[in-house]
Amino acid sequence: MKYFAVIGHPVAHSRSPIIHQAFAKQFGHEITYARLHAAPGGFADVLAAFQAAGGHGVNVTLPFKLDAYAICSEVSDRAKSAAAVNTIAFSKRGLIGDNTDGLGLVDDLSGRLGLKLEGLSVLICGAGGATRGVIAPLFEAGCRHIRVVNRDVQKAKQLCIDINNVPHHGALDACSYSDLQTLKSGRGFDVLGFDVLINATSAGLAGQRLDVPDVMFAKSRLAYDMVYAAKPTVFMEQAMQAGCADSSDGLGMLVGQAAHAYALWHGVMPQTAPVYKDLRAAIDGQ
Ligand code: ATR
Repeated sequence: MKYFAVIGHPVAHSRSPIIHQAFAKQFGHEITYARLHAAPGGFADVLAAFQAAGGHGVNVTLPFKLDAYAICSEVSDRAKSAAAVNTIAFSKRGLIGDNTDGLGLVDDLSGRLGLKLEGLSVLICGAGGATRGVIAPLFEAGCRHIRVVNRDVQKAKQLCIDINNVPHHGALDACSYSDLQTLKSGRGFDVLGFDVLINATSAGLAGQRLDVPDVMFAKSRLAYDMVYAAKPTVFMEQAMQAGCADSSDGLGMLVGQAAHAYALWHGVMPQTAPVYKDLRAAIDGQ
């Protein structure tokens, strides 16, 4: 028996235990996977107690991904680029940290949604931790250009500076929502349209639409919301009403990031499609 957990605040809603148990079933592995709540400032203590009790590894969710990054003795380049860790393996060498969020997104885009990412241009709305986690893996998967749009444009520019400090292939830049409106009316729009639009903001949680021109949705192949829900999210509705070709929520990304965490801990990559299907049915049926 091996022991795993997800640490967060809040954590009661986390689907990670269900997903990891479904993966374990595919291989006949015996695992336990708990939800561990930590109060703000209490991440390190909860982590240490779980390790001392014989734990093998943890996933880390909001708001502790930065704490997890700071506490690890070794981190992957992906985690370095994100400055955030969502998966920790306990090893003799210490705490080994990785960030599998972006891999989960890339797998969902290129697998379930059938997109070839080579050469694509991507617009990511939002410049918080969710955006930081996915940029390096999108470039590794072949994306050519990523633009980050944010209300606070300084935050988006800083994010680009930080990420550009780690070598990557591709062009990364930042702009404001009003810049998007200018682009729309400018002569460069045909060149500056985006193949994929990604929502990494929390605007939808407050029921708010993003100030992205309709024509950008209409010209793109896919609008992807990192949030998942039983019904189409505000961003998905906005995209489809504006004539976007396709839209998706982030449930597949959730399953994908869990699959890569599973592979790091167990050395085998589980199948995501059947787990996604069951989870989708369970969530939509609620
Ligand atoms: P996370 O770590 O999950 O990415 P975060 O760091 O709190 O969360 O970032 C939330 C993001 O959502 C920010 O980019 C925020 O934009 P600002 O930095 O300009 O505040 C964005 N956001 C939240 N509400 C928004 C709204 N109504 N419209 C546009 N962006 C919004």
